[in-house]
Amino acid sequence: MIKDDIEKKTIVGNWKMHTTSSGARDLAQGIVDGLVDESIDEEGASIILCPPFPYLALVGEILKDTHIALGAQNLYPEKEGAFTGEVSPTMLLDLGCKYVILGHSERRHKLGEPDAFINEKVKVALAAGLDVILCVGETLEQRKANQVEALLDRQLGLGLANVPSDALRRVSIAYEPVWAIGSATHHATPQQAEDAHSVLRTRFGQIFGEDAANEVSIQYGGSVVPDDAAALLSRPGIDGALLGGASLVVNEFLAVVRVAIAETRSVMQSA
Ligand code: PGA
Repeated sequence: MIKDDIEKKTIVGNWKMHTTSSGARDLAQGIVDGLVDESIDEEGASIILCPPFPYLALVGEILKDTHIALGAQNLYPEKEGAFTGEVSPTMLLDLGCKYVILGHSERRHKLGEPDAFINEKVKVALAAGLDVILCVGETLEQRKANQVEALLDRQLGLGLANVPSDALRRVSIAYEPVWAIGSATHHATPQQAEDAHSVLRTRFGQIFGEDAANEVSIQYGGSVVPDDAAALLSRPGIDGALLGGASLVVNEFLAVVRVAIAETRSVMQSA
């Protein structure tokens, strides 16, 4: 299925467990300063920065009064309580977060988070008022075994189980093939990404209806760099990019944002 709705491209910076307080400050300030002359608000791009928990407050302060939104990389699905070391949706909202990334493959595979737990987080985050970026994606073994479609169906279906339809416009999906994340050698081709996005949109439509499928933003993630951003973002159904490595370098991140703005404008002009 191909999306026929036009909307701004979304670029998410997932800083993972990187930066220090001064590094986070420089990175956020560099991005804000670099975008000062670009109109990212109207016909441009939606930009979201997701620093590590300890730097949310300081990055939030820098993003205040800009059009760049603050996001977190995870949460625990309870309001408060005896959960040592965890961070609640209430705390994230209190720090100015609008978004939260959930189901990232590093949490699925390195920390063993199952779909049911991710689903719990999705529902609690939405109920608390956060927008959710749900990450899904297959491993190399699953791709080689022709299990991509089944895996995406499963992760999407289980991750979004029982999400109320009035919360759907606050959900976006990031397709992140595990084999292409943080990899110098394995990049998904634009066709592979487009195909997977189409599978996800079709599945989304089966669960929530065609209108919702047309509206949902599906971002691509997996070693996106400025050089391949245009080839990816110009594909139908690729609504944005989730960047890890490239989001840690001001000029690389800005270069991808500029590609996104140019893509949004060219789609709007040809419509
Ligand atoms: P990468 O990370 O761009 O470094 O591959 C993307 C991600 O895992 O979110």
